[in-house]
Amino acid sequence: MRFDIITIFPSLFDSYLKESLLFKACKSGSIRVKIHDLRDYADDHHKTVDDAPFGGGGGMVMKVEPIYKAVSKIKIKSKKTKVILFTPRGKKFSQKKATDFTKYEQIIMICGRYEGVDERVAKYIADEEVSIGSYVLMGGELPAMVVLETVTRLVPGVVGKKSFLEERKRGESFIEYPQYTRPENFVINNKKRKVPEVLLSGNHKKIEEWKNKKGKIIK
Ligand code: ADE
Repeated sequence: MRFDIITIFPSLFDSYLKESLLFKACKSGSIRVKIHDLRDYADDHHKTVDDAPFGGGGGMVMKVEPIYKAVSKIKIKSKKTKVILFTPRGKKFSQKKATDFTKYEQIIMICGRYEGVDERVAKYIADEEVSIGSYVLMGGELPAMVVLETVTRLVPGVVGKKSFLEERKRGESFIEYPQYTRPENFVINNKKRKVPEVLLSGNHKKIEEWKNKKGKIIK
């Protein structure tokens, strides 16, 4: 799978992509991530990517031309491409949506900034507007990292085989249950806090039942 992220702050992704499983996933070729500086697609020598809104109102709006040029250049010739525009008014991102996104060969993510993005981007360039939650961020860069990480976890070979298989089996959902590791007993604020007995029992059927009971399904 390949991810292409269009942003005016490419360096925000530098350290994020150099660490952990995401770095490994890139290195092993499970995924390919390319960060594109939107300013490289601006025509004028000031590299302008925003302008004042028609009809007045405060703030600046991201221009349509550089985004159109970027997406046209980056898009591979395949039907399996998804172009996402991040905006707080988009459809809510979820585990189910992440699973749907794994069907695509290429995901292009446009990170909005300023007070908004020319509406023609949402209408004619993006396939989908996506929000990562009911709050307003300063731009689409964190949402792009959230989507990248959530979808990458589902790519075969990126996380441990066991959890991957479990998740795939469940399709769109994922069971998140409480986990413990050594020591069995640990004193916190003068009270002994023990690992639940069932997890130490060696009874796999009982353990599985406990996990299903205590687990929360993430959809
Ligand atoms: N841009 C600003 N806030 C956002 C959000 N919650 N989700 C996606 N993009 C955003």
